[in-house]
Amino acid sequence: ANADPSTLPLKGLNVLVTAGPTQESLDPVRYLTNHSTGKMGYAIAEKARDMGAAVTLVSGPTALEAPEGVDTVRVTSAQDMFDAVSARFENADITIMAAAVGDFRAENIHPQKIKKQGRDTLELKLVSNPDILAWAGSHKRDGVIAGSDDPRPQVLCGFAMETEHLVEHAEQKLSEKHCDMLVANNLNDRGAGFATDTNVVTVLTPGAAPEPLTLMGKADLASLILGRLAVIHANKLA
Ligand code: CTP
Ligand code: CA
Repeated sequence: ANADPSTLPLKGLNVLVTAGPTQESLDPVRYLTNHSTGKMGYAIAEKARDMGAAVTLVSGPTALEAPEGVDTVRVTSAQDMFDAVSARFENADITIMAAAVGDFRAENIHPQKIKKQGRDTLELKLVSNPDILAWAGSHKRDGVIAGSDDPRPQVLCGFAMETEHLVEHAEQKLSEKHCDMLVANNLNDRGAGFATDTNVVTVLTPGAAPEPLTLMGKADLASLILGRLAVIHANKLA
């Protein structure tokens, strides 16, 4: 739709997106995961490409096809996702973490299939996974690099899925993970959440009142999010 490529709002920028669930192995045949389909993250990656960015998509296991023209890196576990993102973060101007990352993994992956015989119960010990968004927040370049002729401030956007106390929990994630923007959705809202083509979100930015948005298609929401992140990025350069 944009005839003049110089008007593309993300031209010249590297955008890094995470999407989808993670899988945490329990034994050779079983894993822990969640209901994420990757739709929101893939919509963001595609829209960022259409807005002129060079896009890298780090995706957990999904049924979606790799978007054309997007460098797609497929990963399985949260640790894999951390490794893929941490290796690429330094190069990203705008990073958006839409993945539903498993918070815990098995302390020990059983080398053989866990057998049911002789057990009435099964206890699994889980240990926490690295928080990729929090890691990025503590490593991002906030302003321009002093004295550099290549000032490259970084903008970081997280997501939050909540089932209660949406704004309170999301505000805490925004500040603790040093995000420039956090997109929060309540799983209980009609049209929000997993496997839908729509979403109902509240947008949070530091120092501003939470902004509840109406029900939107995920593609339109992706445009809105990226448009705002482009402005935040431009303001850091100014
Ligand atoms: N996230 C991440 N790495 C993790 C866990 C979460 O990068 N190990 C990111 C998600 O991609 C999302 C944001 O952090 O952008 C918030 O994820 P969410 O699961 O809502 O919050 P948590 O901080 O994990 O807290 P909780 O699950 O307890 O609500
Ligand atoms: Ca979590």
